[in-house]
Formats: sequence, C-alpha cells, structure tokens
Amino acid sequence: MKPNANERKPVSEIYYPSERILKDAHIKDYDKLYKESIADPVGFWEREAENLDWFKRWDIGLDDSNKPFYQWFAGGKINIIHNAIDRHLKNWRRNKLALIWEGEPGDIRTYSYFELNRGVCKFANVLKSMGVKKGDIVTIYMPQIPELAISMLACAKIGAVHSVVYGGFSVEALAERIQDAHSRVLVTADGGWRRGKIKDLKGIVNEAIKRSPTIEVCITVKRTGHDVYMENDRDFWYHDLMGLPIASPVCDTEVMDAEDILFILYTSGTTGRPKGVVHTHGGYAVYTATTHKYVFDIKDEDRWWCAADPGWITGHSYIIYGPLINASTIIMYEGAPNHPYPSRWWNMIEKYGVTILYTSPTAIRGLMRFGDQWAKRHDLSCLRLLGSVGEPLNPEAWRWYYNVIGKAACPIMDTWWQTETGGFVITPLPVTPLKPGSVFKPFLGNQIAVVDENGKEVPKGEEGFLVIKTPWPGMARTIHRDPDRYVELYWKKFEKNGWYKTGDSARIDEDGYIWVIARVDEVIKVSGYRLGTAEIESALVSHPSVAEAAAIALPHEVKGNAIHAYVILRSGITGNKELVDILKEHVAHEMGSIARPEAIEFVDSLPKTRSGKIMRRVIKARALGIDEGDLTTLDE
Ligand code: PRX
Repeated sequence: MKPNANERKPVSEIYYPSERILKDAHIKDYDKLYKESIADPVGFWEREAENLDWFKRWDIGLDDSNKPFYQWFAGGKINIIHNAIDRHLKNWRRNKLALIWEGEPGDIRTYSYFELNRGVCKFANVLKSMGVKKGDIVTIYMPQIPELAISMLACAKIGAVHSVVYGGFSVEALAERIQDAHSRVLVTADGGWRRGKIKDLKGIVNEAIKRSPTIEVCITVKRTGHDVYMENDRDFWYHDLMGLPIASPVCDTEVMDAEDILFILYTSGTTGRPKGVVHTHGGYAVYTATTHKYVFDIKDEDRWWCAADPGWITGHSYIIYGPLINASTIIMYEGAPNHPYPSRWWNMIEKYGVTILYTSPTAIRGLMRFGDQWAKRHDLSCLRLLGSVGEPLNPEAWRWYYNVIGKAACPIMDTWWQTETGGFVITPLPVTPLKPGSVFKPFLGNQIAVVDENGKEVPKGEEGFLVIKTPWPGMARTIHRDPDRYVELYWKKFEKNGWYKTGDSARIDEDGYIWVIARVDEVIKVSGYRLGTAEIESALVSHPSVAEAAAIALPHEVKGNAIHAYVILRSGITGNKELVDILKEHVAHEMGSIARPEAIEFVDSLPKTRSGKIMRRVIKARALGIDEGDLTTLDE
C-alpha cells in the first residue's frame, strides 16, 4: 500500500498502570484471559451473556449457518430495556442517579433510575397512542437533551426501532434518512443551544418533512422556546402529550427475540446513499455492557462521562446502552466544550466528580490549543481513567491528555471501533502497558489481522488492511433494506477467508501493538465524524452552478482531516471567492456544518479512470505533493 499522509511513526515509550489501577481492575491478566477467550469465543460470550437477564435463555450461542448473516444467542428472548432499566428498579439502584444532565446555558436536570423509568414508560405510552407498533422505525432528531435518551429508550421498550439522526445534520441528510427508514413518526425539539446560539432544529425538520411524505406525526420537545411553525394534526408538543392521561407511567416491556432489531443508525460509506446499519437487542446488549465494564473498569461509584453526541454510535453504545446496563451514573452535556470558556469541561468534571472521561482526539486537540492553564484551575483528581475514540490519537495529544488532564495517573483507553462493530474491538485495558498512539490489541474474544490485497498477513511493522477474523456479538447484522450491500461492502473482499473488512489501514509492531493509520476507502473522518465523499459531492452538484465535484480529506491540525473540494463549474459560470463562500454554505445547509468544506478549488478537469470513476487518491497525492502511485487506469 502507498504511504499515507496521516502516517505516524510508532513511538517507543511505554506507560505502565499504577498500583491503584491494578488493585481494583476487573481484569488483571489480559494475555491469559485473551488466550482463553479466543480458544472458545462463543463460550466466552455465552458466559458474559449470563450476566444479563433473559426472558428465555438462547438455544444457540452463535448460529453461523447463513454466513455472513450471523445470529447471536438465537432463540433467546430479551429486551435491552429490561436490562438497562427494569432490573435496576428491583434493588437500591432505583434511587441511584442514572443521568446528570447539564444544558449549555447552565440548567441542570437529574434522573434516578426510578425517574428515568417513569419518563420512558410515559413516552412509550405516548408513542403507542400515536400508533407506533413493534418493528416500526421512529426517526429521532434532537439536541443532546434528556428527552433524546428517553425517546430512544421508549422505542426500544415497546419493540419499535429507533433511527437517530445526528442533530448537527441538516435538511438533505435528515430527509434522506427519514425516506430510507420510511418513518411515520418523528421526534424532535424546537432547537438546541450551541455556543450561546439557538440551532433551529424544527425549521430544518419542517423543510425535511416536505421531502418526506411518510411522516404523519411529529412530536416536538420545547427546549429553546423560540417561535416555530407547527402544523395542525401533524405537530404535537411533547409536554402536552406527556400531560395527557394516555401518558401513563406504567408500561410493559415488550418481549423481543435476541435478534429483533433495536435500532438502525445511518453512516457514510463508500458509495452514494448513507447506509442504515442494523443492531439487535441481544448481542448488542451483551457486547456493549461487557466492553464498557471491562475496558473502563466500571464500578457502582463511578460517574461516567462519554462526551460524544448520542446521535452517533459512540453515544448509542456508551452514553446510553452499555452504561445503563451496567447501572452507571451518566453525565450528559448539551453544548460546546469551550462555551463560555475553554474550562467548561474541566469545571464540570470537578463539579460532578467525574471519574471517567471518554472523548475524541479532536476535542482533546481543540482544548489543548487553549493551553494548560484552563485545566489547572480545576481539581481533576476525581478522574481515574480516560478514553478516546473516533480517529487516531496522535502521541502529542495523548501525552497532553495523560499529563495535563490525567495528572500522569489515569491510563488512556484509546478504543478502536466502528458504527458497524457496535462496540470496542481493539482497545487497551486499564492494566495493559500503553504506547501513545497505539490502540493496543484486540478485546477478548476478537481476532484481527493486517493483510495485503490477497488476504496474506503483512510482515510486522508494515501497513495493510485491517480485518476482523471472527464474528462478535455486537457486529452489525445487515444494512437496512439492503442485505446485498452489506455483503458487498464488508465481506466480499476477503470472502474466501470469511473476514470482515474494516475499511481501515493499520500496522502491527514487534510487540503486537496495533497502530491504526487511516481509512482506505471513500470515507472521510472530520473531527471524528464520518462522512462519505459521495455525499459531499452530491451536495455540491445539487447547486445550479456546479457540473462535477470531487471531495478529499487533507490533514488538519485540530480536526484530524479537513474536506477539500475540487469543482468543475457549468459552462458560462466563472469561479470567484464569492462563489466559494456560496458553495461552502450550500453544503452546510444541505448536510450540516460538519460537512462544510475547508477549501474549494475550481478546476477544468478531474483525474478519472477509463470507466469514469474519479480518482480521489490521485487528487490527494497531487495536493500533498507525494507519489501518485499506480496510474495505469488513469484516462488520458
Ligand atoms: O477509521 C476508524 C476511525 O473511525 C472509523 C469508524 O467511524 P464511525 O463508524 O463513525 O465510528 C466512530 C466511533 C466508534 C474507523 O473505521 N476510528 C475509530 N476509532 C479509532 C479510529 N481510528 C483510530 N483510532 C481509534 N481509536
């Protein structure tokens, strides 16, 4: 494979855990346990599954009779909500705080497990009264407020499927996802707070609904209180419905098959439309709870803060489901990390006594830029562990996070995983020695490899394709309404080995430590957010002045990568600075501000293959001034 712009040289330093960490760790000997777990992965996962409550025990741990459509805990009956909420109500944890939420303006709300259950039951009954049934897909488009969690949990409770669309997405992205899901009911909010400003979600929803004829009911939480347009017979206020007798606080938890769908979550892929990744009640519950518990050494007294947005997989698995199943106290924050000051997070850690912080390299680099003094003003000694996810954590940011935030006492769990994997696949444990920038080794039960085009393992230290060799309970089951695409995207390339293609490149060093390098497909990671080049390009060509467009990722100091677009204008249109700004704004309006290109360049032609495919790899190499690689397929 060609050298990559994001390539980082492995570092030699190693960090060992302290006595304090070793003493209390759930897992003390990774090597031994790992060996045992891969000798019988299904047995390992069945033992972990026994920690959950099942309405009926499964018949088969792993049914692999229809590869790659694996089924875990087949024949079992369960509901993730029974494990995340109901079972905690039977003991002292009914009074434990499930959620401590802080809004950006500083308002605070807390929910005990008892109160969370009340909210979830009430809203579950509201959904039922709106005709939502088992298997229906409800789209949720919200800011980071407690009602987002409540809506997701209420869907799961009654067996409906949630499809959460990240609140930072805009009209086109939302409409496309509603249409693919065929949702009849949409749950949203009037707006949310971000850097002191209102983000008008309902305005975006109203536009998206015009493009989504399946929507019959839209339920809106009043968060910001600004004027919004509500349509008779379609639009309802959340608080009105929750005040009606139909919103009874008593609701049965639906008995589900282990393999029934819990949610779909759209993510960007190599081709055109976003794909609805499908996760199920049983395997996903086992996988998120087990990984969360062992990787972050979860104890009852912890205060767990995963500072992601619930609208992404990180939020689904590690704000909501994994932590609730482990009866954690969850911290959730609505707004920007640097509002009104760059110490907002550090202040919250001190104020709430957060013991574990899990965030992204972009957030770490962004806060690092403001200097150490903001963190030094706060007592962060409550922290025990730190975590990172979403993109490679460069050693410089690793050291800052470790020394300035963790005071050299908190191991950093740099977890590698994907929307499709449901939970951590490659990750350190608190007791394992750490190398800054490496994601350590596979989690228990998992086997991975770094291979060449033909599936042959590359020598130690060399870059290759990262693959997962064996199935795991948290794996995506399919792509919603498109099983062929599921096979094509993840299983086709290494079909003869039966391995899962991650789409990432990596290398393994002489100690077996894994170093993730970058995506090797048409996916761009910007600030840890996953975007498809095709989506950005189609937003660009939807503007009347654009004939053709290509989007690539180029390295960026804080965001990891930034989007650079190359545009061929329609004849008669001249490119100028004003048009650059218009096009940037157009992409942000259609897709959301995370997709706003960093730079747009007007060009006369784009390098293409003879079959007409844009060769983004060549554009990128030219922009970086590096070797263009194999050009035999380039059309002259
Ligand atoms: O490229 C890898 C990168 O994020 C991709 C998955 O993106 P998404 O589905 O949005 O899920 C992100 C949160 C789980 C991966 O293919 N990635 C994720 N974690 C890491 C990472 N790259 C390097 N190091 C990580 N720890």
